Amino acid sequence: MGEGLADHRSEFIANGREWRTAPLWGIGYTKEVNADGTYLHDGRARTLMEAVLWHGGEADGAKQRVLAMPKADRDALIAFLRSL
Ligand code: HEM
Repeated sequence: MGEGLADHRSEFIANGREWRTAPLWGIGYTKEVNADGTYLHDGRARTLMEAVLWHGGEADGAKQRVLAMPKADRDALIAFLRSL
């Protein structure tokens, strides 16, 4: 996931830049369960869009496509994530 999320600590066969790909189902309930709920492995992202913006490495292309979207499409993406 790139240098931005790296902790440089390997775990079993995962190196310090690799993370478990988080399942997104149920993610829309995060703030309902806990208003202070955050995202990513260490909780650094306060919003879903912040979580997307931390994507790097193999996921950088996806982030770039989100950044290139018209605002209405980005809003629709966040609405979709909240619906999961
Ligand atoms: C537009 C497409 C994408 C969206 C909207 C998206 C969304 C998200 C969100 C919201 C999270 C946080 C999940 C949580 O905290 O429970 C997440 C985490 C993650 N995503 Fe994506 N993602 C996208 C594309 C990708 C791609 C293409 C990859 C891999 C090539 C990827 C790999 C990961 C990984 C490994 C994590 C966990 C990172 C960590 O915990 O630090 N994602 N994603």
